[in-house]
Amino acid sequence: MAEPLRIALAGLGTVGTGVIALLETNRSMIERRAGRAIKIVAVNARDRSRDRGVDLSPYAWVDDMQAMAERSDVDVVLELVGGSDGPALTLARAALDAGKGFVTANKAMIAHHGLALAEQAALRNAPLKFEAAVAGGIPVVKGLREGAAANRIERIYGILNGTCNYILSEMEQTSADFGDMLRAAQEKGFAEADPTFDVEGVDAAHKLAILAAIGFGARVDFDAVATTGIGEVQASDITQANVLGYVIRLVGIASLDESDDEARLLQRVRPCLVPRGHPLAAVTGPTNAVVAEGNFSGRLLFQGAGAGAGPTASAVVADLIDIARGDSGAPFSVPVEELEPFAPADPGNRVGRDYIRFTVTDRPGVLAEITAAMRDAEVSIESLIQRGRDDEGGEVLVAMVTHEGPERCVTKALELLEGSPSLTAPPLVMPILGA
Ligand SMILES: NC(=O)c1ccc[n+]([C@@H]2O[C@H](COP(=O)([O-])OP(=O)(O)OC[C@H]3O[C@@H](n4cnc5c(N)ncnc54)[C@H](OP(=O)(O)O)[C@@H]3O)[C@@H](O)[C@H]2O)c1
Repeated sequence: MAEPLRIALAGLGTVGTGVIALLETNRSMIERRAGRAIKIVAVNARDRSRDRGVDLSPYAWVDDMQAMAERSDVDVVLELVGGSDGPALTLARAALDAGKGFVTANKAMIAHHGLALAEQAALRNAPLKFEAAVAGGIPVVKGLREGAAANRIERIYGILNGTCNYILSEMEQTSADFGDMLRAAQEKGFAEADPTFDVEGVDAAHKLAILAAIGFGARVDFDAVATTGIGEVQASDITQANVLGYVIRLVGIASLDESDDEARLLQRVRPCLVPRGHPLAAVTGPTNAVVAEGNFSGRLLFQGAGAGAGPTASAVVADLIDIARGDSGAPFSVPVEELEPFAPADPGNRVGRDYIRFTVTDRPGVLAEITAAMRDAEVSIESLIQRGRDDEGGEVLVAMVTHEGPERCVTKALELLEGSPSLTAPPLVMPILGA
């Protein structure tokens, strides 16, 4: 059998210790599948004395993580530390510069620096892999790069953040408001003490930028992802959506807009209304799911655990097995110099239906004012529900669903209503996911 693939592991937290446990538990099977052993030779974390529930005695402890990139007894550096910049990025650069393979679960770093790292990897002919960076244990990077490689991808979308999905699906079950469910999620360990990245959609945006790059052969462009979190979604929106036959999910969507001469890429993370019969509507709790629509494959659905020690380690070790087998290839599915620099698409070009929630004063003429703005902006209304809110002193909720039309018309209607004394809060627009 060939020489073992030698790994230096930086980061011994949830995922790092999960990788150690997986490699130990499935060692002989992995060796047979990879054609050689995968052997951790060196490890690093901040605190050497901490009991991590795994036996670290077989591995050399490295005090300075950066020294891993220089070790002659290491083939692949595995970074499970986290953070878009800082030591993780320094390590990535040093490892690739030294011609070593680099494997990571770090979505923030790949979303911000994936392109530069892929350029560096190509220069050194070194493998760069990040299956675990998108949707934890779900093999969606491989699914797109390999299984669906024969297809032109029309659209990619999915539920990319387990914390948000847990909160939204619990709000659905309990009719509780966002703040209460966030606290419950924190108590149950489904949300971080600082949940900002999750609930504001940033974590999902990191993953979407990576998926879009792979699916569309695009340069990773995190800054182009328009991101709205779930903090504005109220229990009453969920009730209205339910009455209309929808559930609310935080959805990341990437699609090409070819309405002009030059193709542009639309990347958005937003709370959306999902028809109850759509596969994403059945995705509840902390589960993740990604849909890719290929021109020959049709709709592909990837679903599973988006986080957790076991699932994430499964994705990390799959990358190590690939490298052990000598399977490498372009990290973003086409050679880095061929990745397209798509400009961001104008969201106004999107043609679809929208849900709009208005919070208005309870007085005559308000509905007429809203419908007049819709008429003037050429928005056609499919349904309109008005509900009084006993607890909010004369406020009324108006939930509207539009017929299919260009999004720019809805934006224009809301501009016409801007500053109106009838509106007591900014309206919330949520796109309705098409079939
Ligand atoms: N957790 C998941 O389910 C999951 C899923 C998908 C992707 N990821 C990604 O996987 C990566 C690791 O996540 P995790 O949940 O395993 O994190 P974690 O539990 O917080 O572990 C991070 C590890 O990195 C070490 N570390 C942090 N800063 C360091 C520094 N400056 N120098 C040296 N070591 C440092 C920590 O050392 P100490 O232990 O000594 O403090 C710890 O062992 C992140 O990029 C994350 O986004 C995680």
